[in-house]
Formats: sequence, C-alpha cells, structure tokens
Amino acid sequence: MKINESTRSLGAYGALLILFASNYCLACNDRVASGTQEQQKDWWQTAQFYQIYPRSFMDSNGDGIGDLKGITSRLDHLKDIGVTAAWLSPIFKSPMVDFGYDISDFYDIQDEYGTMDDFRELVAEANKKGIKIILDFVPNHSSNESEWFKKSVRRERGYEDYYVWADGKYDAEGNRIPPSNWLQSFRGSAWEWREERQQYYLHQFAVQQADLNYRNPAVVEQMKRILRFWLDQGVAGFRVDAVPVLFEVEPDENGQYPDEGVSGATDDKDDRAYLKNELIENRPETIDMVYQWRQVMDDYQRIHGGDTRVLLIETYAPPAYTMQMYGNRSVEGAHLPFNFNLITGLKPDVTAPLVQQAIDQWLNNMPAGRTANWVIGNHDQRRAASRYGAQNTDAMNMLVMILPGASVTYQGEELGMIDGVISWEDTVDPAACNSNTSIYEKFTRDPSRTPFQWSDGKNAGFSSAAKTWLPLAPEYEILNVEVESSSAYSHLAIYKSLVELRKTSKTLQNGAYKYKALDDGVFVLKRSLAGEETIVFVANLGNAAKTVNLQTDFDTYLPNAMNLKILSADSSKTIGTEINLTRLSLESGEALVLGRR
Ligand code: NOJ
Repeated sequence: MKINESTRSLGAYGALLILFASNYCLACNDRVASGTQEQQKDWWQTAQFYQIYPRSFMDSNGDGIGDLKGITSRLDHLKDIGVTAAWLSPIFKSPMVDFGYDISDFYDIQDEYGTMDDFRELVAEANKKGIKIILDFVPNHSSNESEWFKKSVRRERGYEDYYVWADGKYDAEGNRIPPSNWLQSFRGSAWEWREERQQYYLHQFAVQQADLNYRNPAVVEQMKRILRFWLDQGVAGFRVDAVPVLFEVEPDENGQYPDEGVSGATDDKDDRAYLKNELIENRPETIDMVYQWRQVMDDYQRIHGGDTRVLLIETYAPPAYTMQMYGNRSVEGAHLPFNFNLITGLKPDVTAPLVQQAIDQWLNNMPAGRTANWVIGNHDQRRAASRYGAQNTDAMNMLVMILPGASVTYQGEELGMIDGVISWEDTVDPAACNSNTSIYEKFTRDPSRTPFQWSDGKNAGFSSAAKTWLPLAPEYEILNVEVESSSAYSHLAIYKSLVELRKTSKTLQNGAYKYKALDDGVFVLKRSLAGEETIVFVANLGNAAKTVNLQTDFDTYLPNAMNLKILSADSSKTIGTEINLTRLSLESGEALVLGRR
C-alpha cells in the first residue's frame, strides 16, 4: 500500500487506520462490491439530500431575503423532485457577517427568517409530505456578539475559558504582536486583540467568528445541549460545519502557541494557504468529538424513538483523516462525512480519468460497511453547471444519482443554475470583502448564492421586493422551475426521471458497481443486481464527439444492446429505443442512462 504525504502527516495512528480501511478494500473485487437483494438500508443510506440556502430560496414577505415561510410555501417543489431530507444552512440569530455562520444565539431563529413557530410549522408541513428537515450545526465558533463571548471578554465566572484566549508576544522593538502566525480563512491573522481582556482571541474564520474552546468541558456540554434542543423541535439530524478546525494544538506551559510552517503554495501572506495549517486543522481530538456527537444522536433515538437522526460532517481534509469520521470497529462516527472529491478533484477541467480518480479515492478508502455520498456543489463553491461546463450539467446530476450511496443536491442544481455575475459593489461575502476590487472574484462565494429561480417573472419569482439581497444570475428566464416544468427535455425533467429511477430501482439501492474512464472524455458506470435490471450510465465529458464499444472497452459483461431510459437535454436520441453498445456514438456533453433485464 502506498502511504502518501497526507497519511504520513497523521502519524502512526492515521496510517494504521488507512491500512485497516484498505485491507477491507482488498476484499472488494476491483471496484466491484457484491450486490444482494436482502440488504435492508436505513433511510439516509439511499437518501436524496437537498441543501437549502434559506436566504436565497423563497422570500414570503417582500424584503428581498428568503425566509422560513417561503420555504414552507415551496415544499411541493421538494416533494416533486423527490427530496428525502432538506438541510437548511443556518437560520439562527446572527449579525449575518458570514450570513448565519456567525451565530449569536444558537437557541433562537434570526428575525428576518421568521419565528420559532414558523420553524415548527415548516418541520410539521415538511414531515406531512414525507420530507425530513436537517439543521446546520456550527460548533467551531460563535458570533463575537453572542452573550457567551461578551461574558468571556469580561472573564465572567464559568465563561473565562469559553473561547481560545492567549497573551500577545512582543517583537524586537517591543511592539505587541499576535500569539502565533496563524491565518484565518478570510485573509489575515487568526488572532484579534481585545483591549478589555488584554488578550487575543482565536478566529479561524472572520474576526466576528470567535473560536470556541473545546478543551473546556462546559463548551462541549453546551454544544450537546444545542443538539438536543433542536432534536426536540423535530429535526432529523445535522450538517456539521467546519469540523476539521474544531481543535488546535495545545498551548505550552506558558500558554504560548507555536507558529505554522510555510507551505510554499502561494506568495500571498494573507492567504491561509500560505501556511501548512497542520497545527490548526485535522487534529485527532476532533475525531473523538464527532464520535461523541454521534452518541448524542443515537441516545436521542433510543430514548425518544423514531427514525435515525443523522450527522453529515463537513470535512475538506485528506482521506486518511476524513475516513476516521465514519467511526471504526468499536465506535460509530458520522453517518456521512461529505465527499467533496467530485468538487476538489475535477480541476481545472472535468475529464473522465479525473472522475474515475475522484470516485476511487472515496470508495477505495471508505471503511467496509459504510455508506458513500456524492456532492457536486454547495454555497461555498461556484455553481456545478459553471464549474463543469453547462453541457455537462445532466451528466453530473446523473453521476451522483447512479453512484452507490446517498446523493446531495445544492438548491438550483436540479435546474442547471449557473453562477451569478457579482460586482465588487454587490459582493457581500466576507471572503471577498476582506480582499480588494482586483482579486475579490477569486474569493467571493456570492455567485452560487443568488436567488433561486422559480419563474421567468419579476426577481425570478423569488421575491416581490424592488431589490433582492444578491442580484439574479444570468439565464434565469430559461433556467427556472416554471419553464423547465413545461419541457420533457429540461434539466429539471431529467433530474426528476433520475430521482424516480433511484427510488424504484433495487439495482441502484443495493447493486454492485463498476466504472471506468474509457478515454479522456468517456466515463461509464454499471450497476447490477441479481434478478434485477442492469443500469448503465455513460457520458462524454470531453469536447469532441466519440464512438465507443462498451462491450470491448469496458471490462465487464454487457449485452449487445440496452434500452435508453434517460438522456441529457441536448441528446438527439430517443427514450425507449434500443441502443447498440458495440458502436455507441456520443456527442460532446451527451449522457445516457440505459437499462436491460
Ligand atoms: C463552512 C461554511 O460552509 C461556510 O459558508 C462558512 O463560511 C464557514 N464554514 C465558517 O462557518
């Protein structure tokens, strides 16, 4: 087995776990898992998760900002596209510096989004339609306007060590400087001075997002209380934010923190990537905290009954670290650590070998018995259709639906929504605002946060306001629910056919898988299950038309011909016709789902 750099940096413990995981994979026959009819899957294992960015989903009161009543009013869309569980980005009280990821009261709802009653109504109405609601849990930090932070600044009893505080250092000229060279995610030092307390506090994100101190048992307990509080409101689980940065290295006996080494990745000294970030990311203590949260979920279900409450973990980390989030032989961890490989691995362009590699990296590292998941976008990334090229929109939606495990859709991906064009004046994301007019486009996450497109009417049917909080994205006149619902060949229609297939096909739920990049452009994936229909997904992700022979080029049994079940919007083939696999021509961007019993 190859121990790569990221494995090595985890030390013996990480390497051992990887060895453990890969030993299991040796039992799989080269990307072929055995599919059996009997497997009983829990709801989340084949779920279609859908991320709602509440600020941009639906505005019910005409203030240009999405809200809870807006979501409730549009639950039929979720039902229509087969969503199992909707994850809401943060809806809690917040000064909105990082649009809800800076929470000032974890137990209450942000006024502009609605009230606690609105939230209860949303959960009840969603549940009536068979849709579960999942909340965003932001454990790493709170707003610096939270009561906890104010008390901690004043060193009030019980709150003295609620955050990561440290004395400053002094340079040769006697000037006070931060405790270490650590950088925040949104540019600049990760330390901020507080005159009143005469100390610096740590913030891995914006200055207004103070890092909670997980070495303080009171903080650990408080955060578990928050989980139980929202479980009591009927949520089906949590997406957990920014997990890899939960713990930092411990200070020395004088309360001093060591500096990070320089990475060599960039010359920009304010960019977090300038440093290695080994001391402030992916610490072993964090993994145990995830296991503790899983215990909270399981205990809750044991006491209160009902369906499994899930934990979906945000981890942009090396596989050796991420895979530990699943748990191990003796302890359960996250149900699903998000798999971002199809985002991080398909750069600068999407090619079939890169898709194969991205899938390999998850499935070959995943411990046995765990469930995979597939993500192609979220509110932190450019729109999938813009990143992969609009012509590959359907191919990528097909891929995440046909691969084994859970699929995750970011609102608008079902429509093929593309990036908004955001000027420096319009950008509001702190990641961009902390930079400058010439480089902000590299950092802004606003292009994927523009209002959801319901129709070709005013504000795309999102709001009746004169101005929406972010401008509309281009092509909303074509890429919207109303227009796409009236066509059998829209991205939305294709998405719905995929969902239908996923829900009804035992092969997709329990079947074996095999996949291959046939060349730079053509990627093929087969799912099969004894006694059930075999499903094949094939896509030409390249820029030129191709003709392939799936019988000889794909090292697995396939019949001469299969029936065309679903095709990409621009394909000129006809659904229901028989397709000859020995001479299959595919235009650039063409993607097909085929079936044969
Ligand atoms: C990850 C979230 O997805 C992102 O939007 C946010 O800025 C950071 N965590 C900080 O909470």
